Amino acid sequence: MREKILVIDDESNIVWLFREIFGDTYDVLGAHTAERGLQTARDQEVHLVMLDLRLPDMSGLQTLEKLKVQGYQGPVIIMTAYGEVKTAVQAMKSGAYDYITKPFDVEELKHVVQGALRYSRLTNEVTRLRRELEERFHLKNIITVSPKMIELFSVIERVSSSDVCVLVQGESGTGKEIVAKAIHYASPRKDKPFVPVNCAALPEHLLESELFGYEEGAFSGARRAKPGKFELAHCGTVFLDEVGELPLPMQPKILRVLEENQIDRLGGTRRLPIDVRIVAATNKDLRDEVRNGRFRQDLYFRLAVFPITIPPLRERKEDIPVLAKHFLKEFAGKRNTAPLTIQEDAMDILVSYPWPGNVRELKNIMQQLSLLCDDPVVRKRDLPPFLWDPDWGTKDSNPSQGSAPGMPGGDLNKLFENEPGLGLTQLKKQAWAGIEKQLILSALEMFDGNRTLAADYLRVSRRTLYTKLREYGIV
Ligand SMILES: Nc1ncnc2c1ncn2[C@@H]1O[C@H](COP(=O)(O)OP(=O)(O)OP(=O)(O)O)[C@@H](O)[C@H]1O
Ligand SMILES: [Mg+2]
Repeated sequence: MREKILVIDDESNIVWLFREIFGDTYDVLGAHTAERGLQTARDQEVHLVMLDLRLPDMSGLQTLEKLKVQGYQGPVIIMTAYGEVKTAVQAMKSGAYDYITKPFDVEELKHVVQGALRYSRLTNEVTRLRRELEERFHLKNIITVSPKMIELFSVIERVSSSDVCVLVQGESGTGKEIVAKAIHYASPRKDKPFVPVNCAALPEHLLESELFGYEEGAFSGARRAKPGKFELAHCGTVFLDEVGELPLPMQPKILRVLEENQIDRLGGTRRLPIDVRIVAATNKDLRDEVRNGRFRQDLYFRLAVFPITIPPLRERKEDIPVLAKHFLKEFAGKRNTAPLTIQEDAMDILVSYPWPGNVRELKNIMQQLSLLCDDPVVRKRDLPPFLWDPDWGTKDSNPSQGSAPGMPGGDLNKLFENEPGLGLTQLKKQAWAGIEKQLILSALEMFDGNRTLAADYLRVSRRTLYTKLREYGIV
């Protein structure tokens, strides 16, 4: 579709000029009065408006305002004669993108118009991405058929509309973060930021400056003032992830923010008012932490106004088939292939496995299968052995880490069973290849399939990574 430029000017030679210059690439629509221009912007999707300041029926400033009121969000460029620059500047204060003086310098005109259209494309893209993000984190995108989860969702939906603190509890990988995001995106704060803070990731003093920000010169190295996460989340939601790891000395400081809705930047002299909603998550039993003196009771009560607990996957086994199919479809979609299907005996194994890493572990396994399975149907033998072999991993491996199908992982004895009669050199080669393949897959997983980042991380060139991917049949 060609982009549309609407030229609102009573001089017909101006519209003609635009058609001459831009007609090959864009659709140029002309309007001789403000009223006609506004009508066109209502009827059609316009990407740029060129607006004359002097129109027969309305001033340019009024027209600009009406354009905005009727919902036009794209750029407006004001066309002025010499001597009208003041009004043009005023128009820019009212939201015009730029101005250009008549008579036009053609090169300058091209430059300004193309810049504005680029801007228009970017803002459209941002709007589209934001909508997509909202969609992605809406409750309906959390996949479940479990009655326990569905009940939980009706509670989440109700709690989203208010500002109460929610504490999301659950084992690792159960979906605490996805639920926290769903709460934010289902709340009236959804157009404001969702700001995650991992309380376990930083040492105490860094966490403090990360949360509260600092003024210039607050400590050596603070060359410029920096706003903290609470400030950045103004009118939105702060997600305190792994809140059970919050260092004890930090706890009263957080409590104070929650009670007073104000923060002090480090080294600052004035208190800044903030308006944030807190959602916290933990995979620890916080009441236990309180009992053991590792978490302040007053903060616990403040955060856990509304506690919810996401059940582990093994307590909602009915979710395993739907989630497995969902992830296979998602990964197939990313690679533009048909999704794998899972044979019944393989599905039985998936359903009876206890999933210590919960949904994240299931997702990882589905990703590995999507990458490695040559056949469109997943059979029992395609699954990593630790899923179906009760003895696997009892020697020297950690079954919850997951391993790709057909790889030695930790149990080298499997190599002898699978490939009897191979000599040491050959076995070593195979074991080495298995480890290398596993490392490459882990790096790809870590960077969401981004090969440049994975190659950087592994300190090999992209070319080497590609060669290995082909060698191991990953692409
Ligand atoms: N019900 C679900 N439907 C779809 N995807 C899910 C669901 N639950 C979890 N996931 C996915 O599983 C992965 C792990 O979820 P998430 O990061 O929310 O878990 P977590 O409880 O925060 O884990 P951790 O304690 O390790 O931080 C994510 O990729 C998430 O998108
Ligand atoms: Mg998490």
